[in-house]
Amino acid sequence: MDADDAGLLPVDPLDVLRRRRSVKWQTYPADVLPLTVAEMDFALAPPVADVLREAVQRSDAGYAHAVPDLGRAIAGFAARRWNWDLDPAAVTAVTDVGVGVVELLRAATRPGDAVVISPPVYPPFFDWVPEAGARILEVPLAHGADGWHLDLAGLEAAFATHPAAYVLCNPHNPVGRVHTADELAALVRLARIYRVTLVSDEIHGPLVLPGASFTPLLTVPGAGEVAVTVLSASKAWNLAALKCAAVVATAPRMAALTGRFPPDTKWRIGHFGVLAAVAAFSEGEAWLDRLLATLDHRRTLLATLLWDRLPTVAWHPPAATFLAWLDCSALGPDDQARDRFLDRGRVALEPGLHFGAAGSGYARLNFATSADILDQATARMAASAS
Ligand SMILES: Cc1ncc(COP(=O)(O)O)c(C=O)c1O
Repeated sequence: MDADDAGLLPVDPLDVLRRRRSVKWQTYPADVLPLTVAEMDFALAPPVADVLREAVQRSDAGYAHAVPDLGRAIAGFAARRWNWDLDPAAVTAVTDVGVGVVELLRAATRPGDAVVISPPVYPPFFDWVPEAGARILEVPLAHGADGWHLDLAGLEAAFATHPAAYVLCNPHNPVGRVHTADELAALVRLARIYRVTLVSDEIHGPLVLPGASFTPLLTVPGAGEVAVTVLSASKAWNLAALKCAAVVATAPRMAALTGRFPPDTKWRIGHFGVLAAVAAFSEGEAWLDRLLATLDHRRTLLATLLWDRLPTVAWHPPAATFLAWLDCSALGPDDQARDRFLDRGRVALEPGLHFGAAGSGYARLNFATSADILDQATARMAASAS
């Protein structure tokens, strides 16, 4: 544990973390520090751990029963956290965010229709669109002095060609952008003019860090008729193992999309996932606040470490998520810097090119870990870069 982090979430020592059987801890050899896939190194939130422990004690490992508890828990959280008055009946449980987005796109598109995405973006967006039978139209994020943001002019030009849908990432992985209420209002206006369905992936919504505030897309006036949102507790409470997410559709035209989901969808949700998500959304806020304070601390620490040790690496500290999108292009094009960090430094980051061509020269670093691991990782990265 980090002794000097009073009030912040503790992290187990490395030898304990390495006993985890998940992708993050099993992909690389034992001498590599993995700061890759979006798993966190903190212990589970106590209300979540309790509900899972109790379910195991009851041998309660059957099929999921999500209605009405999941909708109520999400609606309660949305009201308290985001001032969003959401009808629990607008919530449909799905296996995970990927399944939610793919099924929504299948329902909203015809084969070969274009679906717009904005790279650099979470790599599965490039897979979900063709999985649904549609084709990708890229409108990259714009990059200015204040960081990355939606290219609204580029989106208008693309929407004018009548794509069927736009998959929004809000907040945006990997750049950590929290789209502003004005940007989202402009996006909704374009979607209404050009009749483009907006599918908003808001998995990182609960992970908006101190200093920023989150606007759920469906709280934007007029959004309900053109937009549908996919939410999950799986990022903010580290529950990817458990397979439960939620689609939110508030207007009849959008609810018709969930009405077209394959009937078996509800049998494919994880029962433990529903139990954990209900506990997280209804009882997990005190822990979430400690998590956000801890991530804020790591974000500041990373800024200091990078400034001191890797001054040629540029970044805009994220307003949300626990992911740092590092411009390492001064150290080489494509994934050269990332490869050197891994091969020589024994630190694994996500290769920038996985997030699209705009990721050339970039690497994504997961800072949901201890101060000690960040210290070691940046020292090794600096040594490998020189
Ligand atoms: C933007 C985004 N969407 C979806 C996911 C994955 O969600 P799920 O495992 O529920 O499909 C992630 C995981 O990191 C993500 O960053």
